[in-house]
Amino acid sequence: MSGPEDGLSRVPVGLGDRTYEVRIGPGLLDRAGALLADVMPRRRTVVVTDATVAGLHGDRVLAALSDGGIAARLIVLPPGEQTKSFEGLADLCDRLLAETLDRGDVITALGGGVIGDLTGFAAAIYKRGIDFVQLPTTLLAQVDSSVGGKTAIDTPRGKNLIGAFHQPRRVLADIDVLVTLPVRELRAGYAEVLKYGLLGDRTFFEGLEARGADVLAGDPAALTWAVAQSVRMKAEIVAEDERETGRRALLNLGHTFGHALEAETGFGGDLLHGEGVAAGMALAFRYSADQGHCTRQDAERAVRAISAAGLPTTMADIPGAPFRVAALVSHMRQDKKAEGGGITLILPRAIGDTWVEKAVDPGPLADFLAREGAVQG
Ligand code: NAD
Ligand code: GLY
Repeated sequence: MSGPEDGLSRVPVGLGDRTYEVRIGPGLLDRAGALLADVMPRRRTVVVTDATVAGLHGDRVLAALSDGGIAARLIVLPPGEQTKSFEGLADLCDRLLAETLDRGDVITALGGGVIGDLTGFAAAIYKRGIDFVQLPTTLLAQVDSSVGGKTAIDTPRGKNLIGAFHQPRRVLADIDVLVTLPVRELRAGYAEVLKYGLLGDRTFFEGLEARGADVLAGDPAALTWAVAQSVRMKAEIVAEDERETGRRALLNLGHTFGHALEAETGFGGDLLHGEGVAAGMALAFRYSADQGHCTRQDAERAVRAISAAGLPTTMADIPGAPFRVAALVSHMRQDKKAEGGGITLILPRAIGDTWVEKAVDPGPLADFLAREGAVQG
């Protein structure tokens, strides 16, 4: 699983003939050419990135690819969630066509989840499908969005509603690139790291209680460990349930509550996705404890770990509060996981032990949200 000879953690995502490796460690972007040459037989690529990442890391990625004998050109898109749109997709596809890429070529996504999701979806449909690799530059993208092949764009009706499963050929998670990431984005990504411990690995959660501060301080060894552990769990789940017919749904711990809060705050800068997930996980633990499924001690311990990372744990922590009970429940009914208008929640029995609860009774859920500070009406 790891390659001590070159200091990298290597995590395979086992999907038969589509199996690929996630390589994790410091200094990977500067070796991108050597680390990608075997999946780029034509020795050329187009690197899709956003303006912020291009300014910080674009030139050295191009230089590293060139050092490895790979000719590369850059496509730079505007940063931000609005780029993950039909307009953004049309613009990207047009620019890929202008680069005369054909099916034997490989596209490179360099950026956070926005660039990875959009580029992956463009790769899924460009000339009916072309290979791509992921060079994730946010913690969220390294531990979650770059792994597992979910690609998508948003529409005015909701996030990630149009997309495809399309697995990358390789992922290089360079820990050093996180040095330039704003601390708020690092924390938001850390919520997804905590999620893995909370949803299925109590030992990892306990490790994060001990080492979380080092991870958030940017300690390279702690970051490499946290990213590798997270990717291992995601890879194992994706290998078992690529299309989310079962266990993969657990990766949505905190997401139904979080999605409702993101929707109420307008999916903008007031609440980052990871912050919504953080508050959502705290709500899921407290709701589960309320319903008698999980001990109060475990719920409080989970909430303490989320709060210690500087992440929101109550609705009052979120700009725009108080939110309306009816609006929150309505968003939860429209969540992608909802079936037949029922609400689906990922709920804990304990830290590290979760299950998918379908057809959640909206009555007790609404009462819970009111006790949590949401207002009637
Ligand atoms: P993002 O891609 O918008 O990146 C956040 C910000 O950080 C951007 O402004 C970006 O320019 C900047 N940035 C990126 N890397 C940087 C770096 N190294 N230094 C400085 N700035 C940097 O956001 P994100 O949080 O990475 O991803 C969120 C997206 O991911 C959402 O669209 C969400 O739906 C999606 N997502 C997808 C999956 C999946 O499985 N496909 C999972 C989780 C989230
Ligand atoms: N981010 C959830 C998943 O990949 O399934």
